[in-house]
This record gives sequence, structure tokens and C-alpha cells, in this order.
Amino acid sequence: MRVRLTVNGEQRHADDVWEGESLLFLLRERLGLPGSKNACEQGECGSCTVYLDGLPVCACLVAAGQAQDREVRTVEGLATGDPARGDRLDPVQEAFLAAGAVQCGFCTPGLVVAAHDLVERVPHPTDREIREALAGNLCRCTGYEAILAAVRLAARWKAGR
Ligand code: FES
Ligand code: FES
Repeated sequence: MRVRLTVNGEQRHADDVWEGESLLFLLRERLGLPGSKNACEQGECGSCTVYLDGLPVCACLVAAGQAQDREVRTVEGLATGDPARGDRLDPVQEAFLAAGAVQCGFCTPGLVVAAHDLVERVPHPTDREIREALAGNLCRCTGYEAILAAVRLAARWKAGR
């Protein structure tokens, strides 16, 4: 079947989508957006987190067909313009870099989307709120302290705009 959807503000479509195919596969393999990662593909790790109609979801748990006529925003869509051409990253992305919250980086896109959602909803999150917001996102490398520091920093930057 053909699936039409809006991704990062652009109308996109893919043909010959299999009925059991995930939104994650559609994004990565058909639409050329590999930012969302395919770690567990069972809803356990959060590395595939994207916005679907403004709410964060695990893209591996959403059937591609469920995204028909809906709006998806991936980690690639958080930056303003094209970072490869020197345009600005989102403050959450900048904060992850500044705080050294990235090691292998496999978990990072999902954490960035989850943290982005938190700081958009909650201008001054407590540590408890940060931990709760990121509870569905696993990281095997960092021990989480630098990630918490990155989210605190991102919240401060966003609040200070
Ligand atoms: S790849 Fe989707 S939750 Fe792990
Ligand atoms: S940085 Fe490697 S899994 Fe998080």
C-alpha cells in the first residue's frame, strides 16, 4: 500500500509498504531518515522515539499504516535548518553535546526527542520529572548522570530564551 504522511514539515509518501511494517522501518529504510535508531524493535529501549501528532512514541511499535495522513517529527526535524550547513541545532541537542552526554550515541536520538518533549511541556523540570520523562529510554554507556545534566542545561537554556 501507499502511505502518505508529513515528516518534519514535508509531505512524503512511500509505496509498497507491507501491512506489518513499522513506522521506524518506513522512516529509516524508505524515507532516508536514519536518526531514529533500531535497537530493540520491541518498545523496550526508546532509541526510536519520534513525535507522532506531537506526542512522543516508539516508532518501532507504530505500524507504518497508522501514520497515514499524520504528522511525524524525528530527531532530524528538531534542528533549525540544516546543521550540516552550519545551521543551529536545537538547544536540547546542543546541551547533550555541551554536557558530554553522548558516548556510542545509539540511545541519543531517542533521549533527545524525549528530553525535547519534557522541556517543551515543563519549563523548570525537577530531577524526578526528568527521570520520569526519560524512564523509557535506556543507555548502556553513560550511567545517565551526564544525560541528566544535559536535560537540566537544556531546560535552563530554553527558559532563558
Ligand atoms: S527500537 Fe523502539 S523501543 Fe527500542
Ligand atoms: S551513549 Fe551508548 S547507549 Fe547511550
